[in-house]
Amino acid sequence: MLKQKINTEKPDYKSIKPVFDSSKKRVYIETYGCQMNVNDSELVLSILQDNDYSFTKNMDEADLILVNTCSIRENAEQRIWGRLDVFRIAKNRKKSLKIGVIGCMAERLKEELMEREKIVDLVVGPDAYRSLPDLLRNVEAGQKDVNVLLSREETYADISPVRMDENGVSAFVSIMRGCNNVCAYCVVPYTRGAERSRNPETVLNEVQTLVDNGYREITLLGQNVDSYYWEDEKNPDKDINFARLLEMVALVDPQMRIRFATSHPKDISNGVLYTMVMYENICNCIHLPVQSGSTRILDLMNRKYTREHYLERIAKIREIIPDCSITTDIIAGFCTETEDDHKQTLSLMSEVGYDFAYMFKYSERPNTRAARHLKDDVDDEIKTKRLNEIIKLQNQLSLESNKRDIGKIFNVLIDGFSKRSNEYFSGRTSQNKTVVFPKENYSTGNFANVLIISCTSATLIGEIVEEKRHETITELKNIIDETIHLVENKIKSTIKSKIKKDK
Ligand code: 5AD
Ligand code: SF4
Repeated sequence: MLKQKINTEKPDYKSIKPVFDSSKKRVYIETYGCQMNVNDSELVLSILQDNDYSFTKNMDEADLILVNTCSIRENAEQRIWGRLDVFRIAKNRKKSLKIGVIGCMAERLKEELMEREKIVDLVVGPDAYRSLPDLLRNVEAGQKDVNVLLSREETYADISPVRMDENGVSAFVSIMRGCNNVCAYCVVPYTRGAERSRNPETVLNEVQTLVDNGYREITLLGQNVDSYYWEDEKNPDKDINFARLLEMVALVDPQMRIRFATSHPKDISNGVLYTMVMYENICNCIHLPVQSGSTRILDLMNRKYTREHYLERIAKIREIIPDCSITTDIIAGFCTETEDDHKQTLSLMSEVGYDFAYMFKYSERPNTRAARHLKDDVDDEIKTKRLNEIIKLQNQLSLESNKRDIGKIFNVLIDGFSKRSNEYFSGRTSQNKTVVFPKENYSTGNFANVLIISCTSATLIGEIVEEKRHETITELKNIIDETIHLVENKIKSTIKSKIKKDK
């Protein structure tokens, strides 16, 4: 495969791992919410490490605690208020300790955080992380400080995140920030601002840095990756959309696995699907949040697609990438949802046969479109009942999907030990399913061919097969498939001729 040229004028990428240095002030960072927040914490650490802070995993030895927050549902915010109580105790013990709230909740609740929580010294929104060093100087001087300004340009394109993952195998690369969709239930456009795409050259440089540091899998992140767009002012014919960016990223290193999230059903293009099949290293997995199976509810949610359009996109994915896994997000009990709407969600789930789903009860968020214009009128009890039905069905669908994998061999990227035993590894297939298998003499970060021998609804269980055996099994499988095909055709033609005769 051709390796493309990458701009060498890349910023000076320093250590991409945390620096532990007890002679410096130490920051402890706790992250809640989505993958974007995980990546933002890595940006924040990078900014702080450039400004004489070092990292600690131990809250007790920290000089600064930062909590990167999520506002997506009410219970996410409740958890953070609970954590602030714990930090209060730490601050009572160590008066010099500084506490900062960053991320979506900082954006949404700045006044409340400053006024209600006397222990909070610093409040910083998702677009204001560059100002952290200045704000911290003021905090050190005994003031409290806030910056929650949202930006139309900030993508932190030139900042190389300091990776906080444990295994050095998988990393996130943010390709855009913010969101221009106003889904009625969603607080993200208000906390993360308008959508902007990141310079593709800086994306490629970051991917190359990860390759150089031994990473084997990256996930390109955006609230709606399909609307990624980079205009080349000098060369308008060379504008870059998401399909093109995906291709450019895939070409950086054919050994690097590429994933992406999140796709939007109204925007995901055939171009993206064709790019996925063209490159072996782009994983066959699409996260396509449906939210509801009822067109009436989708309309109220302002999702801008119908049930039929969604199913058409699913059919296209299946046609172009037959072994693609499809995962989703579902909300139970959105405003005015009837039993019939709910049944439509269940029937759509069965029709698609999702491999995995994140499922939520609707939680009204202040100032969103739904909060302003619709009544949160589904009883909590009914929301819970519907959510349980959705979860029950999804468990069944996940189990069926996993059962279909028994007997197949998958190329698995090992990301660490299994939770239950150090004698077993845990890894993921291209379809992003977790596989557990005896470790033999492989290591974390290796790829292994694993034959699936059993499963639960959450995990595939297998054993490593050597190359030779892999080939033999694949050949055998092909022979069996061909035989089945021949037998099927024979049966069909016999039945046809019998019907003719009977007529
Ligand atoms: N209530 C419940 N779930 C929500 N999500 C977003 N906002 C809300 C809300 N107010 C879910 C959606 C989205 C996922 C990230 O979180 O399903 O896709
Ligand atoms: Fe929220 Fe919709 Fe944007 Fe996703 S696409 S972040 S659900 S507004």
